[in-house]
Amino acid sequence: MSNLYSLKATLPTVFISKSQIANRVAELAEEVKNFYLSQNNLEQNENIIVIGVLKGAFIFTADLIRALKLPTQLEFVRIASYGDSTKSNGILNIPDLALPNNIVNKHILIVEDIVDTGKTASFLKQYIQDQFNPKSLKLASLLSKPSRRAVEIDPDFYGFEIEDKFVIGYGLDFGEKYRELDYLGILNED
Ligand code: IMP
Repeated sequence: MSNLYSLKATLPTVFISKSQIANRVAELAEEVKNFYLSQNNLEQNENIIVIGVLKGAFIFTADLIRALKLPTQLEFVRIASYGDSTKSNGILNIPDLALPNNIVNKHILIVEDIVDTGKTASFLKQYIQDQFNPKSLKLASLLSKPSRRAVEIDPDFYGFEIEDKFVIGYGLDFGEKYRELDYLGILNED
């Protein structure tokens, strides 16, 4: 079957396959669910407030909330970091941080695509803590690159720990491209 990628022979090399992602997201959802059910005594039908960080986490957030099988209220913020295309310089660009007042004093789960320097997650955790006084505040990230960390923060739940490679696909981009790939890839060098 031909598509534009195959015509140009530019499909990025598979780093983590579609099925590896699906299996890990299912396991991760179990971990997250167990945390909320065992330690936090969710009240009957109490929503977990899930805050996805756009754009990169949109696919992971969609898959995670469907695998969670717990009632959620879904919100999004949009944060980007300036820098050249594969290295962030740590200066955050925040186009949309609007969140509703009804998330005050709730269980909040931030969902990130990747914790790289940690600056995005660290900023957002502090902001939510200060503004919304959550009952609990946790961070789930599909990926974590601990070798790149510039601030002290680790996700409470993560899918894969990876070395210092630039990955694309499953929501993550390179110059706004490749988000639609259903696997995580590494760009081919050519
Ligand atoms: P931070 O450095 O932890 O603040 O991460 C900032 C953002 O940079 C992440 O949310 C991603 O959107 C992006 N990013 C970091 N590493 C990668 C990567 O390997 N591929 C694609 N985007 C990345």
